[in-house]
Amino acid sequence: MTEAILLVGGKGTRLRPLTVHTPKPMVPAAGVPFLTHQLARARAAGVEHIVLATSYLAEVFEPHFGDGSELGLHLEYVTEDEPLGTGGAIRNVASRLRSAPGEPVLIFNGDILTGLDIRALVDNHRTTGADVSLHLTRVADPRAFGLVPTDPSGRVTAFLEKPQTPEEIVTDQINAGAYVFNRSVIDGIPAGRPVSVERETFPNLLAAGAHLQGMVDSTYWLDLGTPQAFVRGSADLVLGRAPSPAVPGRRGERLVLEGAVIGEGTKLTGGTSIGARARIGADARIDGSLVLDGAVVEDGAVIRDSLIGTGATIGARTVLDGAVIGDGATVGADNELLHGARVWCSARIPAASLRFSSDQ
Ligand code: GDD
Ligand code: MG
Repeated sequence: MTEAILLVGGKGTRLRPLTVHTPKPMVPAAGVPFLTHQLARARAAGVEHIVLATSYLAEVFEPHFGDGSELGLHLEYVTEDEPLGTGGAIRNVASRLRSAPGEPVLIFNGDILTGLDIRALVDNHRTTGADVSLHLTRVADPRAFGLVPTDPSGRVTAFLEKPQTPEEIVTDQINAGAYVFNRSVIDGIPAGRPVSVERETFPNLLAAGAHLQGMVDSTYWLDLGTPQAFVRGSADLVLGRAPSPAVPGRRGERLVLEGAVIGEGTKLTGGTSIGARARIGADARIDGSLVLDGAVVEDGAVIRDSLIGTGATIGARTVLDGAVIGDGATVGADNELLHGARVWCSARIPAASLRFSSDQ
């Protein structure tokens, strides 16, 4: 079966403070580093050889995944000295590929949670005879993505990365971050300098008359680039709405990892996951949230759609809704943090010092 490249070198800036100590693909979602879900899905589709293109915090991947044999994979790691961008990263791992020039190679962005039928993308690539095939999905607001208009046969007519003007918004079809490239196209990317596959390679290929084929697929799809999306993705994995063979245990309202302690009267709902050795007090309510290893939530806290970092502490009766609490931070009792509030790693917020609404 086809081999794959996984792009995991981005800085994950929009996810900070979660990505201060941990690269985005290694932040846990539904109990395991997010990348595990992508690796397991690729393996389930028959992929055996995967090359990880790393850059930011590159050193943490190999100690965790090793040679990949636990997942039934053969994993290799290639680290860029300077970030080379998406296209540069793909070119930089070419020497590790085993495919012949005309053979297809899968390429995945490392922050996508999707139910894409990977085999169907490869089959579609073979039957259309394309040079490059792209998984496309439809979104309500395409501005944060690469826009990919196609003709009635699915052939790509343009590639517009992160459009700036209303005139550029010509379609709701976007690049979903999974590609099949013929090996020879990878070898044709310039080596040794930063290249954006979205801003340089795709437009150049189209201008040169290459055949880029889009496959629109309306299965589950989420880019986990923002804290809200990351929390949503983890909850959907726990609930079973997003498919992954790597979620530990059964799907349901909650996932509680080993050594976690849950106090009396506490309700965990909406795909909440509680990390190993976390301690949750009594009469708390945690809905659709991600509590990482060793975090502490005290009695009566009310937490929705939020992410609590490793070893962080949330005081009694504190309310969090759409908040991100960095690793090791402390939010004292009786605070209220709403609407995308981000508390930095190791920060300390004293009791009763911050509200986003009147206290009466
Ligand atoms: N090795 C390496 N080196 N990887 C990188 C680098 C780099 O310099 N820069 C980015 N990456 C990786 C990221 O880790 C991520 O997995 C992937 O490339 C895409 O980068 P993002 O930073 O997440 O891009 P985006 O989300 O703004 O846009 C991309 O994804 C959208 C779909 O989610 C584009 O491909 C868009 O066209 C697409 O619509
Ligand atoms: Mg992204």
